[in-house]
Amino acid sequence: MIIAIDGPAASGKGTIARRLAAHFGLPHLDTGLLYRGVGRIMLDRGFPLDNVEIATAIAENLDIADLAGEALRTREAGEAASVVAAHAPVRQALLDLQRAFAAQTGGAVLDGRDIGTVIAPDAPAKLFVTASPEERARRRFRELVGRGELADEEAFYAAVLADIAKRDARDSGRSSAPLIIAPDALVLDTTTLGIEEAFAAALAAVESARR
Ligand code: CDP
Ligand code: CDP
Repeated sequence: MIIAIDGPAASGKGTIARRLAAHFGLPHLDTGLLYRGVGRIMLDRGFPLDNVEIATAIAENLDIADLAGEALRTREAGEAASVVAAHAPVRQALLDLQRAFAAQTGGAVLDGRDIGTVIAPDAPAKLFVTASPEERARRRFRELVGRGELADEEAFYAAVLADIAKRDARDSGRSSAPLIIAPDALVLDTTTLGIEEAFAAALAAVESARR
C-alpha cells in the first residue's frame, strides 16, 4: 500500500504522514528533506543556489542516512530547498531513490509536493493536505519560535507569512513537477482542524481508498 501525501509548506502533511506510517507500520519518507539536504549543502559550501550543475551533483550523491538534524529545518534551508527544487536535473537525480522507497514490499508513506503526480502516480491512496496561508504561517512561526529562531515577534510572524507566500508561488509556478492537486487526490483542508482531527480524517480517507 503506497500512501502519497502532498501539500504546501506547514500544511501538516508531515505530521499526518508520520501518524499514518506509525498506524499502518509502514516506512515513511519526508521527501522535503532531500531538497533541504541539497539546499543546506549549497549554503554551507557557499555555492550559488542557481548553479544547476553543482546542485545536481550534490543531489546525485545525497545519502538519505545523512538527512537529520536541526540545520535542515531552518527557514533558510526551506528557502534554499525550494530554489534548488525548481531545477529539473536536481529533481531527476532524486527520482529513482524516491520511487525505490515507494516500491518497497508492503508499501510506504511519502510526503512532499509531487508524490501523487510524479513519484507514485499509481498510489491507491492520495491526500492533498492544505490550510490557509495565515494558519500555516502561525504553525511554522510556533515551530521556529520553539527552536529559538526569533527576533521581534510581530515582525517575525510577518516574515514567516511572507516566506510561505513566496514558497507557495515558487512551488506552484515552476515548470518541473509543480505543486498541483492530483485529479484523484482527496483534498484535506486542516485550517480549522487540530492534529487529532486532521489525522482521523486522513485515516478515514486512506481506509476508504483501500476498500
Ligand atoms: O516542511 P515544508 O513544507 O516547509 O517544506 P518541505 O516539505 O521540507 O519542502 C521544502 C521545499 O522542497 C519545498 O518548498 C519544495 O520546493 C521542495 N520539495 C519539492 O519540490 N518536492 C517534494 N517532493 C518535496 C519538497
Ligand atoms: O510537513 P508540513 O510542513 O506540511 O507540516 P508539519 O510539519 O506536519 O506541521 C507543521 C506544524 O504545524 C507542526 O508543528 C505541527 O505540529 C503543527 N500542526 C498543527 O498545529 N495543526 C495541524 N492540524 C497540523 C499540524
